[in-house]
Amino acid sequence: MVRDVKKAIFPVAGLGTRFLPATKSIPKEIMTLVDRPLIQYAIDEARAAGIEEFIFVTSRGKSALEDYFDAAPVIEQELRAKNKTDLLDVLKATDMDSGAIAYVRQQKAMGLGHAVWCARRLLGDEPFAVVLPDDVIAAETPCLQQMMEAYHNTGGNVVATMEVTMDKVSSYGVLDVAEDMGAMVRAKGMVEKPKRDEAPSNLAVIGRYILQPKVMENLNEKKIGSGGEIQLTDAIAREITETGNVFGFRFRGQRYDCGSKAGFLQATVAFGLARDDLSAEFSQFLAEIVAMRQAAE
Ligand code: G1P
Repeated sequence: MVRDVKKAIFPVAGLGTRFLPATKSIPKEIMTLVDRPLIQYAIDEARAAGIEEFIFVTSRGKSALEDYFDAAPVIEQELRAKNKTDLLDVLKATDMDSGAIAYVRQQKAMGLGHAVWCARRLLGDEPFAVVLPDDVIAAETPCLQQMMEAYHNTGGNVVATMEVTMDKVSSYGVLDVAEDMGAMVRAKGMVEKPKRDEAPSNLAVIGRYILQPKVMENLNEKKIGSGGEIQLTDAIAREITETGNVFGFRFRGQRYDCGSKAGFLQATVAFGLARDDLSAEFSQFLAEIVAMRQAAE
């Protein structure tokens, strides 16, 4: 029987040094695409996939994240007094049931696998999702929900995947494919950040995972992997060797790497254009600025 997934881990302990100086005083997950912080997109996607418990793996300096999901009585009172119901509705997206959200700290930056392992006591013997908020995915059906549907057919472990060009493989976990079934592939291996000429394929893992408790157990080993860090990829690779039950899922949607400046800007433009209240003015501005640049060249 395939067990439902109700808990998700959000690793948010990273320092976000690529966005300094902004991240000197704000967590990168609070940086906004249009008017919503990155973490909001991740939470909304998890909710749509049926997640009910949200576990944040944080670090020092991330208290703005906790405040974000707390009640804001002063703002709410003010909006109610002014009868701004539309804004009160906007704020509702940040509501969390008491106890639905939990925070554990990763005291030392020892890699993604280690961050996930820090949440082990909150999971028990249950399958769980991992969502990396840096990977923002625009999709008609939210990515994790698509994966959940696929998972209910296959069981086991499901990781989001997409093809990348060979010059990019060294930035990702990469799948070695045993069987390609179209949307799903069965993996026979998974390598973290391989060199271009050592990559088993160009099928990269994107930051959405549905994992069995055995993967958490594998992380207990604290095996040091790529970059001298404890890698989630290695714990999943072990599950491949032991059970063969790891699938890559080619999601339908556009992924933005919001851990990089270029990706963040691309996402900002795409999400701005997708907004009914902004698209007309914004697309006109973009057309004009592109035309001006071309004329100047
Ligand atoms: C992490 C994972 C990697 C995965 C990537 C997706 O790497 O370790 O396997 O492909 O996320 O974004 P990071 O980007 O944190 O270095």
